[in-house]
Amino acid sequence: MGKKYQTLSQFNLSGQFLGFVEDTAGKFKYMRLILAKCESISPFSTEEVQIKLPKELRASMDLSLVHGDEVRIVGVSKLDQQTGKIKLKAYQVTPVGGCPKQEMSTPMKARILVCQKSGCRKHGGNGLLSEIEAILQERGLLGHVTIEYTSCQKRCNKAPNCVLQLGKKEYNLMHPRAIASLLEHHLG
Ligand code: FES
Repeated sequence: MGKKYQTLSQFNLSGQFLGFVEDTAGKFKYMRLILAKCESISPFSTEEVQIKLPKELRASMDLSLVHGDEVRIVGVSKLDQQTGKIKLKAYQVTPVGGCPKQEMSTPMKARILVCQKSGCRKHGGNGLLSEIEAILQERGLLGHVTIEYTSCQKRCNKAPNCVLQLGKKEYNLMHPRAIASLLEHHLG
């Protein structure tokens, strides 16, 4: 029997804590988050996301979070191969003081949006993602960019698709090595 979930990649999000979601046994297994304004062009279909909290994290995290607190969450995204939906699982939750302005402003935010819809996945979307990550890792750039997954980018005939965003600039249809070079240049 094949694996239900396929691990995609790491995410790094910030936003406002909305609350925990409990299961029937009263354990909070998920947290709800509204993505920060500075992340409002997020590829997620809505700006509200639900993120799974593994047991180890639940045991160690700050339970004094209240509605509206700013948090940064690092985790991993997984693809449910049966439904095609992407699930987010946290492995680090950090409260931040106020809106995370400093991180957002220096330098211009860099992000790579990789289409993970079936049209692109069938045409090498997963391979493209791994290749981008490998090259960024090799050049020490992985920590300087956020990699996120999108639904269809409406350019299926050019699949697999990804977009590199450097502040307000966007670059499409780029080879992973060109992405790495542009990022290096951008980070100066
Ligand atoms: S499926 Fe990727 S752009 Fe349409």
